[in-house]
Amino acid sequence: MSSSSSKQEEEVEAMMMSPQLEAFTRVKRISLFEPSLSVLIFVVVTAFIVCCFFYLDNREFGFRCSENGRHDLFYTKWRWQPKHCNLPRLNATMMLEKLRNKRLVFAGDSIGRNQWESLLCILSSGIHNKDSIYEVNGNPITKHKGFLVFKFRDFNCTVEYYRSPFLVLQSRPPKGAPEKIKTTLKVDKMDWYASKWRGAHVLVLNTGHWWNYEKTIRSRCYFQQGMEIKMEMVVKDAYKRSIETVLKWIEETVNPRKTQVFFRTLAPVHFRSGGKCDLETLPELDSSFSSSVPKDNWSQFNIANSVLSSSAAHTNISEIMKFKVLNVTLMSGQRKDGHSSIYHLAPTLPPAPPRRQDCSHWCLPGVPDTWNELLYALFLKHA
Ligand SMILES: *[C@@H]1O[C@H](CO)[C@@H](O)[C@H](O)[C@H]1NC(C)=O
Ligand SMILES: *[C@@H]1O[C@H](CO)[C@@H](O)[C@H](O)[C@H]1NC(C)=O
Ligand SMILES: *[C@@H]1O[C@H](CO)[C@@H](O)[C@H](O)[C@H]1NC(C)=O
Ligand SMILES: *[C@@H]1O[C@H](CO)[C@@H](O)[C@H](O)[C@H]1NC(C)=O
Ligand SMILES: *[C@@H]1O[C@H](CO)[C@@H](O)[C@H](O)[C@H]1NC(C)=O
Repeated sequence: MSSSSSKQEEEVEAMMMSPQLEAFTRVKRISLFEPSLSVLIFVVVTAFIVCCFFYLDNREFGFRCSENGRHDLFYTKWRWQPKHCNLPRLNATMMLEKLRNKRLVFAGDSIGRNQWESLLCILSSGIHNKDSIYEVNGNPITKHKGFLVFKFRDFNCTVEYYRSPFLVLQSRPPKGAPEKIKTTLKVDKMDWYASKWRGAHVLVLNTGHWWNYEKTIRSRCYFQQGMEIKMEMVVKDAYKRSIETVLKWIEETVNPRKTQVFFRTLAPVHFRSGGKCDLETLPELDSSFSSSVPKDNWSQFNIANSVLSSSAAHTNISEIMKFKVLNVTLMSGQRKDGHSSIYHLAPTLPPAPPRRQDCSHWCLPGVPDTWNELLYALFLKHA
């Protein structure tokens, strides 16, 4: 975002400091596996503008809400503030220094790309010569690329995104499979790309938004285990099975001395009151799951949650720090005001009609910056 709107931002910020807004302060809990962070209490405060002054010319249109016509910038004014300690302010230079000669990899669905792009923006604010940041294959940021690798030349580090909405392998069905089956999801096999993730120094995984009937069975994609197509397997079980596969892969393949692995939990969608979210300008102030996270998403979160929690409880994974959970579900569930909604097209186009809005991706700057602040805090502890 350019700084042309800074006057407007100052005004909004002045407004945020007014005492009536004290009422917005709410107490939150987040549970991370990091022992010393395990009982953090979070308060929503009105604080800094999360800034992304750098203008990546090829940033994806879909996330540039203010350029696409969104006028209120209120959604950029919220920050997570632990009650009894401070999250370190994300210092881009410091993070780049810690990433020198390293690879930071995001793998997952388009919400992962949303977070990756947020981090690109944040990190690039620490660099003067913007020409020194480039996609290694010269590719622009678009929805359909298999992967994108941005290099920060002065630090010899790369910040990469691999599109892998299921994390496990989706490919052709075995020979002789019924005609109606177009592809299968091998719930016991990692995506081919996983061989590229293994050597990363920081790996941030997520999966969730594609685990529904429409994007699998309805699209003639069935589940497969070994050589066998499981015609009866339901999405919920396949999802659980695949997260187990991912964790097993981490355990067996990833070298914890080299790679810090993070699993980001589901970021809820807010297609509500007739599939809309464009009129939302404030976060959900009630911090209970039932009011912040749609039921479907909650049950899905629970599946991932139970696998992640039980693997932490019953194995040594968490002790040896093989992976950490970025538990963003509840905090993002409250941010119904943060989605691209009708502002996901392009600066040159009028906003989308309300029935074609996007209540799953997030405006940038915005909510994914918060996830990256958590990532930064945990990364710094072990970098
Ligand atoms: C950010 O980190 C750099 C390098 O570690 C340091 O020189 C600089 O003072 C930090 N900036 C802030 C605002 O703390
Ligand atoms: C640059 O970083 C890569 C890892 O991302 C590393 O293999 C390579 O040795 C680094 N180059 C230099 C000159 O340090
Ligand atoms: C979340 O909930 C919405 C509506 O309740 C539903 O359409 C969607 O499929 C659910 N799952 C995910 C992963 O968002
Ligand atoms: C994530 O946080 C929620 C509460 O915000 C908690 O119920 C859940 O157990 C946590 N999950 C993990 C895997 O840490
Ligand atoms: C944890 O690790 C120790 C040593 O690495 C091993 O002896 C023990 O059996 C492990 N426990 C579990 C539950 O895997």
